[in-house]
Amino acid sequence: MSDVEACLSALRAAGVADVDFAMVLGTGLGGLADAVENPIIVPYAQLPGFPGGGVSGHASRLVVGTLEGKRVAFAQGRAHYYEHGDPRAMAVPVATFAALGAKVLILSNACGSLRSDWRPGSLCIISDHINFAGVNPLIGMKLEGALADSRFVPMNNAYDANLRRMMRAAAVRADVGVHDGIYMWYSGPSFETPAEIRMARILGADIIGMSTVPEIILARHAGLTCVAVAMITNLAAGIEGASPSHSETKEVAGLAAADFQRLIRAFLRDMPAGIPLCCHRKSFAKSATAARYPMRRSRFSSRGSLPAQ
Ligand code: HPA
Repeated sequence: MSDVEACLSALRAAGVADVDFAMVLGTGLGGLADAVENPIIVPYAQLPGFPGGGVSGHASRLVVGTLEGKRVAFAQGRAHYYEHGDPRAMAVPVATFAALGAKVLILSNACGSLRSDWRPGSLCIISDHINFAGVNPLIGMKLEGALADSRFVPMNNAYDANLRRMMRAAAVRADVGVHDGIYMWYSGPSFETPAEIRMARILGADIIGMSTVPEIILARHAGLTCVAVAMITNLAAGIEGASPSHSETKEVAGLAAADFQRLIRAFLRDMPAGIPLCCHRKSFAKSATAARYPMRRSRFSSRGSLPAQ
């Protein structure tokens, strides 16, 4: 039995039903899952292939239930590339979300701002990314036969334009200010130097952090439609003399978590029954995803809308 199959049967045994949304909660943002109704909580330790605890600010458990009328699986905590040197560290969780029936993956993270006018405590909807870590979770992934070509994942609409529009609309309704910007993935765990931050700005990044990008690539490969929200916890190294630290990241993320939670709850609440799915999913669903997750084949062949709530 594969890890994904083992996770699925552990979750079913715990009483977990299908979900429409999955969400990865970044550093200091895990509190959103506390509002879930009728939660089923499964520690990562019971899910083979899920990350072990490692970074403070992450709870390492899956919380599945209903929030704002939507079925959601919340991952409280993620594995980072810098913990293991493995960019595929989130492969099993992402594949498990797909196997559970999730169509949309919402990602969140804490990040540094490269713009002095984007202040700590504010939120940014990620519009695109720059993979400056230079590794890719699909490198070396065993994809044989008909699946081999699935590794060439288009990334044009990785941060889905429709979902971003809906997130911006949710921000207006929730009265939360949001920026819209490009995220650079820097491997960490050391923070960047001021020279690296100047370079990142020249290359076109607005914000910088140590996560999210491998998950987006894995999720697009699995046929999930994605949207990502970053919490700016600090000005990046050297900007106005900033010298970021992990304790500052956790502290500011905690302080600004209320806005983040209002935004995500408004997004879920107002999500229509049908969401337009992107082209990649359409072309991909019939081949690679369906074959990789045979237990859920039927989910990937029915497309076009979320079930009515
Ligand atoms: N750099 C990288 N990762 C981060 C930062 C930062 O300034 N802040 C929070 N995560």
